[in-house]
Amino acid sequence: MTIKPRTYFVRTYGCQMNERDSETIAGIFSARGMKPADSMDTADIVMVNTCTVRDKAEQKVFGLLGKLRELKEKRPDMLLGICGCMPQQQQVAKRIRSRFPFMDIIIGTHNLQQLDTYLEQVLMERKQILEVWEERQQQELYAPARRSAGLKAFVNINWGCNNFCTYCIVPFVRGREKSRSQADIIAEIEGLVNEGYREVTLLGQNVNSYGKDLPDKPDFAELLAAVNQIGGLWRIRFMTSHPRDVSARLIDAIAGLDKVCKHLHLPIQAGSDRILAEMNRGYTQEHYLLLVEQIRAKVPDIALTTDIIVGFPGETEADFAETMAVLRQVEFDSAFTFMYSPRKGTPAAGMEAQVETAVKRERLQKLIALQNEISLKRNRALIGQTVNVLFEDKTEAMFKGRTEGNKLVFAASANNLLGKQAQVTITEAKTWNLVGQVMDGND
Ligand code: 5AD
Ligand code: SF4
Repeated sequence: MTIKPRTYFVRTYGCQMNERDSETIAGIFSARGMKPADSMDTADIVMVNTCTVRDKAEQKVFGLLGKLRELKEKRPDMLLGICGCMPQQQQVAKRIRSRFPFMDIIIGTHNLQQLDTYLEQVLMERKQILEVWEERQQQELYAPARRSAGLKAFVNINWGCNNFCTYCIVPFVRGREKSRSQADIIAEIEGLVNEGYREVTLLGQNVNSYGKDLPDKPDFAELLAAVNQIGGLWRIRFMTSHPRDVSARLIDAIAGLDKVCKHLHLPIQAGSDRILAEMNRGYTQEHYLLLVEQIRAKVPDIALTTDIIVGFPGETEADFAETMAVLRQVEFDSAFTFMYSPRKGTPAAGMEAQVETAVKRERLQKLIALQNEISLKRNRALIGQTVNVLFEDKTEAMFKGRTEGNKLVFAASANNLLGKQAQVTITEAKTWNLVGQVMDGND
């Protein structure tokens, strides 16, 4: 039998969904009495939670596995595991096993809840585990999470995606949409509030399709209304929304529910209708712009953020110019911008007219430069305004917090603002953050 691990280290790549899964990993290990290690170098077990959405993320993981090889040579008793979206692809799981045969546990996204059982098997039988299930099983079996202490927590509301955008690997590695029951979600959030959390981010690949697969078909707006009633909770965030599925009811919920932050992350991906159709996004530029108009009419101070891909196969200079034009027209508060990365098994990877890397890079730089200008402009418009900030951190003399729009604010105060909300008047604006003054009587 292998020595029982006493400490663990989890390295996470990718999105909030993965961050949340890593809390489950930490929860499973904690339930065994294990403690977090300060670094990989000292941990008895290292778990690598992977992302496969772009090639860059995968390359980082392969680099880390190389380092872990050296660690394991020095400390053969340590255990190593890899999970998440990379090994969920059978061919990648097998490749990991042949290139990195020293890995003890190789499992997919749907197997995570069984991690304790796998670890037990490794310890008892000293065998390598490679398990990749095709679908999430035992929906209600939901291992406890070990969240980092703080004010903010991620809460899963639905998993998977049915959209099959032609560039995206997510539907293949996260499976079909499955919603958690409203009762489960509410109970988890009530528990979190009792522990002192004040803000929740409801997570799903497409939160707007929440409930479609549940017996009484509650919709996302209804869920928001129910979460809004939880006493002691201050703020509700959610991501991600698909533009095709944003309903009038959702817009009303953002406008009308006091705890729902006035922020919408609404990935547009591209400006050109031809590219949007090739991407299988299910909306046109016109539809998206109309949606933005409707949202701003009801929630004028809403922060809008987005995701954009440049260099999708066949994207011409004219198509790209449309993306730039939409950016200018909408004036997003910020944007996550990506170069298209072909993912094996997705339709777009097989499309002809792949765009050269140099062209993609040039377009990305132009896009980022434009968005930075816009972000600064949007932030400057806040100067003189008073906004609600939830303070969660401190660096030197400044307290750090976020606005409802998720903008970072620094503010000095003689009082301890940590864990508190305050009304803050914005005095200075940069591209990435704001500086403000706490209003009298609030701090
Ligand atoms: N290449 C580049 N970006 C991608 N995204 C998803 N798949 C790819 C891909 N193959 C981006 C989308 C999505 C975000 C999470 O990642 O913009 O909204
Ligand atoms: Fe991927 Fe599209 Fe689903 Fe988002 S909506 S996870 S981009 S397939």
